[in-house]
Amino acid sequence: MLSYRHAFHAGNFADVLKHSVLHYVLNYMGNKDKGYTYIDTHSGAGMYKLHDQYAQKTGEYKQGIEKLYDADNLSPLLEEYVALIKQLNQGKPLSVYPGSPAIAHFHGRKQDSARLFELHKSDAALLTSFTENWRQAQVMITDGYKGLIRQLPPTTHRGVVLIDPPYEIKTDYQKAVKAIIDGSKKFSTGTYILWYPVVTRSLIDDMEASLLDSGIRNVLKAEFCMKPDSELYGMTGTGLFIVNPPWQLKGLLEDALPQFQSLLASENSNEASFTINQMVEE
Ligand SMILES: C[S@@+](CC[C@H](N)C(=O)[O-])C[C@H]1O[C@@H](n2cnc3c(N)ncnc32)[C@H](O)[C@@H]1O
Repeated sequence: MLSYRHAFHAGNFADVLKHSVLHYVLNYMGNKDKGYTYIDTHSGAGMYKLHDQYAQKTGEYKQGIEKLYDADNLSPLLEEYVALIKQLNQGKPLSVYPGSPAIAHFHGRKQDSARLFELHKSDAALLTSFTENWRQAQVMITDGYKGLIRQLPPTTHRGVVLIDPPYEIKTDYQKAVKAIIDGSKKFSTGTYILWYPVVTRSLIDDMEASLLDSGIRNVLKAEFCMKPDSELYGMTGTGLFIVNPPWQLKGLLEDALPQFQSLLASENSNEASFTINQMVEE
């Protein structure tokens, strides 16, 4: 029984890291005329309303996108991400927030396609409605880990895979890494973005060890923590493992992450921290 609904968390500090990177990567993919395939193993609903009962109940977006929406002097990665959110809000005050499928829709051209997996029936229905006029997108109400392997290699031979599980169950940590390892065997040139929450540090260390053991090359790790590690407070930080990132991404994150600390963790920035690490060279 799945209980996670991303509507409670849309636009939070973890989404800011994940979606600013996704926006950059998909923009980069669009620099070439040849089409690409975007695969989202855990898609969520697509688009979120920040004034609905879900987002209002947690108010998580107030520690995320809301802090950046009207900020000046943003680093290029965050500036482009905020410009996207403003465009989707039609220049008005912040009220809607794009999930990963909506960011892919923004970038998708007629030669690009999207494969969107979502298991939760209510979110799958919302996603199906969101993609109604997006002919190149296919929503699949099946397990995203198994579905990913069936999609690889993509017919376009260029691709971006987002693996963004809810981590409701601890097996997600290793399943998510295995999805990259198995995926890379069938499609080694794809860009894989794996999101993780910092709740229990040892689970992330195990993910990192499995990736290092796998022999996969060119792995970047970026992490931002609001607070020092502690299992008392739920998610204290957020991170990404990125396989085959565009070469400029590391530098862009090096510029952006100090602003995560100063702007998103503004009330207690001395408790916040970030790391960026090329775990495995090309
Ligand atoms: C973190 S949310 C996704 C957010 C989305 N990627 C975004 O960035 O906007 C995780 C989603 O995965 C779904 N889910 C959980 N297990 C799944 C599975 N095995 N296959 C596909 N979807 C799954 C949940 O219902 C939830 O909507």
